Amino acid sequence: MKRAAVALVMLITVHAGSRLPQPFVPADNPQNPSKIQLGRYLFYDKRMSVNGSSSCATCHRQELAFTDGRAQAVGATQQTHPRSSMSLVNVAYNGLFNWSDPTVHSLEEQALKPMLSTNPVELGMSFIQADFIKLIRSDATYRPQFRLSFPGQPDPYTIPNIARALATFERTIVSANSPYDRFHFEGDESANLRVREAGRDPVLPRRRPVVLSLPRRIQF
Ligand code: HEC
Repeated sequence: MKRAAVALVMLITVHAGSRLPQPFVPADNPQNPSKIQLGRYLFYDKRMSVNGSSSCATCHRQELAFTDGRAQAVGATQQTHPRSSMSLVNVAYNGLFNWSDPTVHSLEEQALKPMLSTNPVELGMSFIQADFIKLIRSDATYRPQFRLSFPGQPDPYTIPNIARALATFERTIVSANSPYDRFHFEGDESANLRVREAGRDPVLPRRRPVVLSLPRRIQF
């Protein structure tokens, strides 16, 4: 809670200068470029699901601000989730996660839920856990990437490291300085005009980066 408040204050303060602060990064999971790449690869890998049908990106689609456009999410086995997929934009600044889950305190802890939960099944990875670990140990892409991402670990092929890599990637989904941000936080009237134009013409947001601009930069 305290962390959330601090992050929010920093966000507002630094926004005035149109720069976002560095997000909180846990000491045991430092950002590094290969881990970001690994996390991104995992995020889109449907082999993480029980039947090869879904990945994190099935419910968190970049073109929909990392949501799925549904009122209620649908898992790999077609089970309906009681809640809606949440946007992951600027999730690095969260102190609390999910719609209402005080037990989750970090992106690393959060990632384990969609991976392993069985009620409802999201990816259903708990049913294929051993096979997936075997896969990342032998796969030509994953094998070296895990080594590079977790230097010094004798056996980096673990479930907690999968969650760490996913969290590392998620911390790079950062958006700032959109026309909406510039108008709202800096009073830039020309930006306001673009936001209004976007509101009038539903086609505009597809063509131009209006209101929400998706990941532009990677932070370390
Ligand atoms: C079946 C659809 C589905 C899949 C697959 C899925 N998610 Fe989600 N995600 C959701 C839903 C629904 C919520 C809200 C959960 C809740 O409130 O219980 C959510 C919430 C989140 C949040 C919290 C965002 C916030 O602002 O608090 C993060 C982070 C997240 N998901 C990351 C992931 C990652 C990483 C994966 C892959 C390992 C993943 N999700 C796979 C549906 C999904």
